[in-house]
Amino acid sequence: MNVIEPRPGDEFSDLQEELALDQLGDWQKTVNCNGLRPEDVGREVILMGWVQRRRDHGGLIFVDLRDREGLTQVVFDPNISEKSHERAGALRSEFVLAVRGTTRFRPDGMTNTKLPTGEIEVAAVELRILNSSKTPPFQVEDDVEVSENIRLKYRYIDLRRPKLLKNLVARHKVAQITRAHFNDLGFMEVETPVLTRSTPEGARDYLVPSRVNAGKFFALPQSPQLFKQILMVAGIERYYQIVKCFRDEDLRADRQPEFTQLDLEMSFIREEDIYAMIEGWVDRLFLELKGFSPRPPFARMTYGEAMDRYGTDRPDTRFELLLTEVTDVVAQSEFRVFRQAIERGGMVKALRVPGGKDLSRKELDELIEFVKIFGARGMAWIKIQADGWQSPITKFLAPDIQQGLSERLGIEAGDAILFVADQRKIVNDALGNLRVRLGKQLGLIDAEAFNFVWVTDFPLLEWDSAEKRYTSVHHPFTAPLESDMGLLETHPESVRSRAYDLVLNGIEIGGGSIRIHQQDVQRRVFQALGINDEEAKDKFGFLLEALQFGAPPHGGVAFGLDRLVMILCGCASIRDVIAFPKTQKATCLMTNAPSEADVNQLLELCLKVECDRNK
Ligand code: AMO
Ligand code: AMP
Repeated sequence: MNVIEPRPGDEFSDLQEELALDQLGDWQKTVNCNGLRPEDVGREVILMGWVQRRRDHGGLIFVDLRDREGLTQVVFDPNISEKSHERAGALRSEFVLAVRGTTRFRPDGMTNTKLPTGEIEVAAVELRILNSSKTPPFQVEDDVEVSENIRLKYRYIDLRRPKLLKNLVARHKVAQITRAHFNDLGFMEVETPVLTRSTPEGARDYLVPSRVNAGKFFALPQSPQLFKQILMVAGIERYYQIVKCFRDEDLRADRQPEFTQLDLEMSFIREEDIYAMIEGWVDRLFLELKGFSPRPPFARMTYGEAMDRYGTDRPDTRFELLLTEVTDVVAQSEFRVFRQAIERGGMVKALRVPGGKDLSRKELDELIEFVKIFGARGMAWIKIQADGWQSPITKFLAPDIQQGLSERLGIEAGDAILFVADQRKIVNDALGNLRVRLGKQLGLIDAEAFNFVWVTDFPLLEWDSAEKRYTSVHHPFTAPLESDMGLLETHPESVRSRAYDLVLNGIEIGGGSIRIHQQDVQRRVFQALGINDEEAKDKFGFLLEALQFGAPPHGGVAFGLDRLVMILCGCASIRDVIAFPKTQKATCLMTNAPSEADVNQLLELCLKVECDRNK
C-alpha cells in the first residue's frame, strides 16, 4: 500500500518558513492546466495549480502542474530563470504554485500522446509558491491502492483524483440536465422542509430535538412525500425537487443514510404520463452523458411475473437464467425435502443452469452455503451428464417425474438444475440471489448493457407476521387498482396497487405511484392497514384534511439520484459519487460525525443520555 500518514511537525513546516510563501499579488490565472494546445505556442500564460510530480533531470526540473481540468508540464530552466529553477528544487507533491511562463513545443520525441497538453510545455519565467503541503497520505492518482477509510478521512485529497472528480462532474451534469429538462416541461422546483414530521416510507427516522418545544422532536424527511401531495392540493400541478432524504436503515453498497432524490409529482395524470415523462428524462441523460439512447419505451413487467421468474421485484434482465416453479411436478416425489415443504404450504422452484454440469462439488457446496444466507435450508442439485442424471436425489425421482422436470425446465445435456424448496418468500429470495450470483460467476452479464424495466401491479399490502397486521408495500397513500377495490375488505392481500418502480440492471433506481385523492378510499385503505381514525389523524391528519379541500387526481415518482449516477459512472459503490459520504456504519470519517453532545446542549434540550452501547 502506498500510504504515508502525515506526521505532526512534518519536515515541511521548516521548509514553509524557509520558503517564505509567496502571495498571489496582482497575478491572475489566465488558462487552466488542460487549456494549452500547439496553437498556443509562443503565448505567455499564468498557470495555477498543484504539483502532481516533480522530476529533476540534472539541469532541468520538470513539474506536472494539475488543476481540476488536467495537467500541464512546466519546465524550470536555469538559462531562463536561475531563481525560479533554484526554488523549483524545493517543490514537493501537492505544493500550490503560480507559474508565469511561455508556451512552447516539447522537443522532438518528447510528446506525451496520453495527455491533451502532451505536445506543449510551459517554460517558467517566474515561480510563486502559494503554499506547501504535507506529504499526502496517498498519491493523487487513479490507480493508487489505499483503504477506503483513509480515502474518506482525507476526502479532500481523494477528490483531487481524476476518477472521483469525474464522478462529481457527472453528478453536476445530471443535476443540470434534470433541472433543464423538467423546467422545459413546465415543472416548478419547490423546496420542502427538512425539519418536519415522520414521513411514511417505512425506515427509521432521524430525530432532531426541539429546544424551544422541550421534549418534542422533528423528524428529518425520509422523502418529501406528504408535502408534494399537498403541493398538488395547492394547485402547483407539476412539482419537482432535487432533495436530500434521510433514512436510518442498514447500509449497503447502494444505500446511504442521507441521499438525494429527484422527486416529482403531477396532477391530472395517469401511469402512462409518468412513464413517458421519465423515459424522456432518462433518454436525455443517457444521450448527453453517454452519447447513446437507452431506447425508450422501456420494457414492462408485472410484480407477479418478476417474482415468479426472477425471484425479486428488481429483475436484472441482462441475462436469462430464469426461475421455474416445479411444485406440481415434484409434489408426489419420494424426496422428503420437497414433499414436506409442499405439505407445509411451501413451494419448489428450480434454476436451469446451461453448462452447469461443470460445477465442481466444492462450487456446489459454496452455492448451498450461499442460499442459506437467505433462509433456505439447502439446495438440491442435478447434473445432466451425457450418460444420465447425476445427483444425490435422482433415486427419489421416478421416471415420470424426471420426464415432467425435463419438459417443464427444457432440460438439455450439460445443464445443472438447482432446486430450493421452502416457503415462497424464502425460495424466491434464495434463488433470486443465486441467479444473480451465478450470472456474475458464469460471466453471463453484458457489462455494457443498460436494461431498464418498469415493474408494475405491485400488491397494495403485505402481511407483516411480526406485527400481525398488513403494511403498505409502497406507502399508505398509494391508490389501489380500481378493479381490485372490491377485494379490499375480503382479500386485502390480492389487491393490486397503482405503484411502479423503474429498475436498471437489477437496481431499483426509482419508484412512485398514483395516489389516493378521495377521502373514502383513503379511509378504507387505512382500515385495511389496521390504522384507526385516531391514529390516522395523529400521524397524517394534515394530509387527510388537505385531501378534503379539492385534491386533484395526482401521482408521482422519486429517483435515487446517487444510484443513477453510480450506474452511469460504472461505480460499484454509491460512496464514489457522493462528495462527503458516510461509512457503512453511518459515520463521517472526515468530521468524525456523529459525536457526543455537550452536556450544556443536552440540558438546554432537556435530554439525558442513558444508553451507552459501548459499555
Ligand atoms: P422510495 O422509498 O422507493 O420512494 O425511494 C425512491 C428512490 O430513492 C432511492 N433510495 C435510496 N438511495 C440511496 N440510499 C437510500 N437509503 C435510499 N432509499 C431509497 C431508490 C428509490 O427507488 N416518496 C416515494 C416516491 C413516490 O412515491 O413518489 C419514495 O421515497 O432509488
Ligand atoms: P438432506 O436430506 O438434509 O441430507 O438433504 C439432501 C439434499 O437436499 C442436500 O443436497 C440438501 O442441500 C438438499 N436440501 C435440503 N433442504 C433443502 C430445501 N429446503 N430445498 C432444496 N434442497 C434442499
